[in-house]
This record gives sequence, structure tokens and C-alpha cells, in this order.
Amino acid sequence: MANELATASTLHTEDVSVWFGDRQVLDKVSLTFPANQVTALIGPSGCGKSTFLRTLNRMHELIPGAGLAGAVYLDGKDIYGENVDAVDVRINIGMVFQKPNPFPTMSIKENILSGLKLSGRKIGDSEELVETSLRRASIWNEVKDRLDDQALSLSGGQQQRLCIARSLAMNPQVLLMDEPCSALDPGSTRRIEETIEELSDSMTIVIVTHNMQQAQRVSHQTAFFLADDNTPGGVVEFGSTEDVFNRPVDARTNDYVNGHFG
Ligand SMILES: Nc1ncnc2c1ncn2[C@@H]1O[C@H](COP(=O)(O)OP(=O)(O)OP(=O)(O)O)[C@@H](O)[C@H]1O
Ligand SMILES: [Mg+2]
Repeated sequence: MANELATASTLHTEDVSVWFGDRQVLDKVSLTFPANQVTALIGPSGCGKSTFLRTLNRMHELIPGAGLAGAVYLDGKDIYGENVDAVDVRINIGMVFQKPNPFPTMSIKENILSGLKLSGRKIGDSEELVETSLRRASIWNEVKDRLDDQALSLSGGQQQRLCIARSLAMNPQVLLMDEPCSALDPGSTRRIEETIEELSDSMTIVIVTHNMQQAQRVSHQTAFFLADDNTPGGVVEFGSTEDVFNRPVDARTNDYVNGHFG
């Protein structure tokens, strides 16, 4: 059985608000992430970007004391709906973190197949899936002769592309990336940015970044988040990356994208 690629989906949030205990950290975030588009989430530290990202694939609810209001739709279907399995949601909407987190005791190949094994999903041709996933994450040529080596024998940049490949093996429709390059050198960063561009042909991507050049290089649209001292975070401006960076409507966006604060 061939491993067919999923098609990209549109993700849409409606008035997403978030609490930790009784402290509200996000207020009514409504954004649309169209299929095959890359969206950058930018904003100063602590404004809620990672928290928002975690509401998009139901990882938020794993945090003790986490509260949520509003809705998230994947192609019109509420991912928090009654008969929706959170594990399925996390498979369809994959996530890559700031720090590469390969399973340390597993080989490169085992890392790629780990998600499928854990979720009990059927694997068609596992050799093919390993190769396809590593190719899509632009790391195949570097690891094809050492698939049984420990994942930790890879460099940091390679580990991050391995983690991307591990997400891709689950065949997600959407990929969430939380500062995926912040621990990497410029060369590895460039390779991941190229990978993002290629992946957007087959999926929808949301990337958090503090790197303004990166946001402009990789994304089609940008959302600028901000939290004032005692108010929860929210979206100040959302539009095409071109507009947000070159013709911002809000003075705070202008200040932020030009490095005046944050
Ligand atoms: N597990 C948690 N428990 C309680 N509060 C939390 C938790 N995680 C985040 N917060 C709070 O929520 C707010 C948003 O944090 P979040 O990590 O989403 O910000 P961020 O925009 O991703 O920042 P950074 O750019 O530094 O990564 C912060 O005030 C933070 O202290
Ligand atoms: Mg964060």
C-alpha cells in the first residue's frame, strides 16, 4: 500500500481566549490559516504565541489549570467537538518545537516510525515512509546510510529536521512550528526555511518566530500579537506579510517590526 499524502486544510479560530487558572492570557483571537499558506505569528515574549499555537492542536488542554473559550475549526469541523478524539487532532495537526526533541534512545528510523507505532496506525510500506518523510524534511541525503544510528548522533540542525520528518510521517494536514530555528545556525535555518516552502505545497503551516527576516522570507501572512501589562494577549494586526511589514496600519506593529521594542 502506498503512503498517500494528505491534502492541506484550512484552519480557523473564532474568539479563542485562554486562561491559566484565573489569569487570562489570550483574548478573543480569530484568525484564518488558509490551505497551502504559511502564516507567521510574531510578537514580544510572553504575549501568548506558544499558548495560542497549543490551542490549535489540543495540546493546551494537557496543561494543568488550562482554560479555553472559543472554537477552532479544521475545514469547518470543530476540533473540540464532542466526538472528536484529541489524539487524532494531534496527528492531523502536527507540531515541531523550539528545541529539537528526538527520542534519545531510538535510532533515526525508529524516531520516524515512533508516532505511528504509538498511535497504532497502520503503516503501508515502512521503508518507503521513512525515506519519503526524510526527503520531505530535506535530510534524506545526510542520513540515508545511517538510518540505524542513534538520533542523538545527529547535529542540532539535523535533529530538528529529523523531528520535522517525524511529524511528516504522521501525514498531517497542518504543521505548527514554535520557533523551530531559534537554536540553529544560519545554514540549518536556511535549510529549514527551504523545507517550509516545499512543504507548503502539501500542507498548511503556522510558524512562531522572533526573527523578522525569517517571517518575511517564509510566510504569506503574518499575525502580530501583543499583551499589555495587565491585559491578556491578542492580535493587533493580521494581514499579508507584505502589508504587515511594509504598510502596517497600527503604530505598535510598525514599532515592533522595525525593532523599536520587544
Ligand atoms: N503552563 C503555564 N502555566 C501558567 N502560565 C503560563 C503557562 N504557560 C504560559 N503561561 C503564561 O502565559 C503567557 C503567554 O506565554 P507564552 O509562552 O504563550 O508566550 P510566548 O508569546 O510564546 O513567549 P515567548 O516568545 O517568550 O516564547 C505568559 O504570561 C506565560 O507566563
Ligand atoms: Mg513561545
